[in-house]
Parts: sequence; C-alpha cells; structure tokens
Amino acid sequence: MKRDTIFSPSFGNRPSYLVGRERIIGDFLRGLDSARGNRDRATVLLGQRGSGKTVLLWELADRAREKGFVVATPTVVADGMFERIVEKVQDAGERYVAEDAPRLSGGTVGAFGFSVGLEFTREVRETKTFAYQLTQLVRRLNTQGHGVLILIDELRANSEELKQLVMVYQELVGEQLDVAMVLAGLPGAVSEVLNDRVLTFLNRARKVSLQPLAIGDIDAFYRQAFEELQLAVSPEMRHRIAGATEGSPYMLQLMGHYAVLNAEHDGVLSEEGFTAALHAAKEDFENDVCRTTLAALSERDVDFLHCMVQDEGSSRVSDIAERMNVTQDYAQKYRRRLLDAGVIESERRGYVQFAVPYLREYLEQA
Ligand SMILES: Nc1ncnc2c1ncn2[C@@H]1O[C@H](COP(=O)(O)OP(=O)(O)OP(=O)(O)O)[C@@H](O)[C@H]1O
Ligand SMILES: [Mg+2]
Repeated sequence: MKRDTIFSPSFGNRPSYLVGRERIIGDFLRGLDSARGNRDRATVLLGQRGSGKTVLLWELADRAREKGFVVATPTVVADGMFERIVEKVQDAGERYVAEDAPRLSGGTVGAFGFSVGLEFTREVRETKTFAYQLTQLVRRLNTQGHGVLILIDELRANSEELKQLVMVYQELVGEQLDVAMVLAGLPGAVSEVLNDRVLTFLNRARKVSLQPLAIGDIDAFYRQAFEELQLAVSPEMRHRIAGATEGSPYMLQLMGHYAVLNAEHDGVLSEEGFTAALHAAKEDFENDVCRTTLAALSERDVDFLHCMVQDEGSSRVSDIAERMNVTQDYAQKYRRRLLDAGVIESERRGYVQFAVPYLREYLEQA
C-alpha cells in the first residue's frame, strides 16, 4: 500500500492545491480593489455540500491578508457570532496598531474607547453593542490603512444574527469605510422566506455559484499529484478516475485518496484497484453528501426524486406529476423547492435532472 501525502478527503480540510477556482478568486480580489461601497465588495458563495465553500473562504482569507486586509476568518452563523467576529478582527488587527501610537492623550478620534491596541475599555465592553464595537474597529484599522474583511460560513439567511450583521455592514458601507464581506451557504439558503433587508442585500451582492470543476482541470491535477506520489497510472486510467469525480471537489479528494491506497507496491493501479477505489469513494460520498442532502428535504421532496430515478438522463415534470399521482401545479411546487435547494437542475423547459453526483444511484439502492 502506498502512503497518501497529497489528498485530504475531509470537510473543511484545506486541499494541497485548490483546483479550478482561479477566476472566482481573481474576481474577488478585483472586488477588494474596487471603490469603497462598491457592491462587488459583498459576495455570496453558493454551492452544494462538498463543493468547497469552506476551503474557498479560507483561501480568500489568505489572499485578502496578503493585500493588507484584516480578516475575520470564517464564522458560522449561530449564537455568539458577533462576539466571535469582533474577537477575530481584534486578533488579526492587533499587529497593525502600533503600541506606541498616541492614544487617549493624543485625542485621536479613532482611538477613543480603546485601552491597549484594539482592546476596548471596560466601559465599551460592558455597555456598547456589537455594532458599535465593530464600527470602532473598522474605523480604527482604516485609519491605519487597513481594510476589514468579514467571512461568514454556513449561511442561514433567516437568522436574527445575520439580519443584524447585514444592518451593521450597510452602515459601515454608508460611512464609506474600507470593508468587505463574503458569505457562503447551500444554494437554498438565499431563497427561503427572508427578512426584506437581508434578501435585498443578498440579491444585490455578487452571487457566485460553485459549479462542478472541469474534468480537464481535475485530470491535470491528478497527473501532477500521481507523479509526485510515484503512482504509475496510465493516462487512460487517470481519465477514468477524473471522470468518476463528476466534477465534485470532495469526490476529487476521495478518488485520489483511494486510488493511492489501492495501488500496488510498484505504484500500479490495477483494474481491481480502480474498482475498489471507486467503491470506497462512492461509499464515503454517499454517506457524507447524498445522505445529508436527503436528510434536509421533506418526505414529498424525496418522493419527487424517487420518481425521477426511473428515467435515464432527464425527467419530464409532467411524467413525475403522474407518477406521484398529483396535479401539475403540485409537482411544480416541489420542482421549485428542489431547484432552489440545488438538488436538481433544469436545462430544458419542462425537464429536470439530478444536480448532485451519485444521488441517483444512492436513491436506487435505498
Ligand atoms: N477547489 C478544490 N480543489 C481541490 N479540493 C477541493 C476544492 N474545494 C474543496 N476541496 C475538497 O473538498 C472537500 C470539501 O470541501 P469543503 O469542506 O470546503 O466543502 P463545503 O462546500 O464547505 O461543504 P459543506 O457544505 O458540507 O460545509 C475537502 O476535502 C476539500 O479539501
Ligand atoms: Mg463547509
């Protein structure tokens, strides 16, 4: 058995090399260069489970830091989110606030309310809101020539915390401060019944949907990785491994990992080795992606999907309505929900197909 030192098939684990996201990163960096208040400074990343949202956020954090931004690394939408963001900005920004800078005595407005560095005075900590604290931090860091980037993961757009954060962000933008924000979530996160303000904000932000990676890009990455790992995989076999990922970043890691583990001592991946790798990768993928995706859906949503399984390729919505024994209108309602959730897609009017790799096979077995 060979040792795998390249692939990292687990959630949130930074890959050794980020495949196929250069354009998104480039656009994001240009957004940071755009004028303050430009709407390109707010980005919403939407993608299925395993599409690479979390690792992309961490990559954006690194890139923004290189440009001198103070970054609040990915914070999950939950209770206590604000406190975490404030702490992270303080932590990351500390080194930019010179210890010996004139503080209270100098009477600089930016330093008002701070005790040491970016620490707040006790009065501020105990009596001022998150909004106030974040605003003070951004102002202070901006005075030192540093912008602030806030990263949010596992976006739940209908949460009270997010509503508050959006409000504060808009105030910061209104003040023409150097601030930017990226939020990442499942495709359905934005289409839930939302508070007007949040919905408007998310709709106006630059929306990026994390599409499947190009098989060619995956193949090129495998070529390099297998060479480094001294795996003797023929180009033809490599294409098959790349094809089996169906463009899913998580599947890319899984297939690579199991290909390595199933290679012989001399580095050759046999036909049996390939079959074993595919089997192991699919099993993990079905557990971590297919199963969790279905768990988040209603029983009727899942019925709809079951009715799609018998068609090869795409399914006609009218056929599904018939199979579900419901009216067209009723079936349309579920079609819409599943489209919003990113579980199915529609390339042709009246037709739908699976958007999550291996979900069809998983349903077939279930
Ligand atoms: N562009 C990429 N190139 C190579 N590997 C990637 C890429 N994006 C993600 N991965 C890998 O895919 C796996 C899943 O990534 P990640 O945890 O970021 O997904 P996610 O979209 O945040 O999933 P979830 O919705 O469940 O939180 C990880 O093993 C990660 O290393
Ligand atoms: Mg994630």
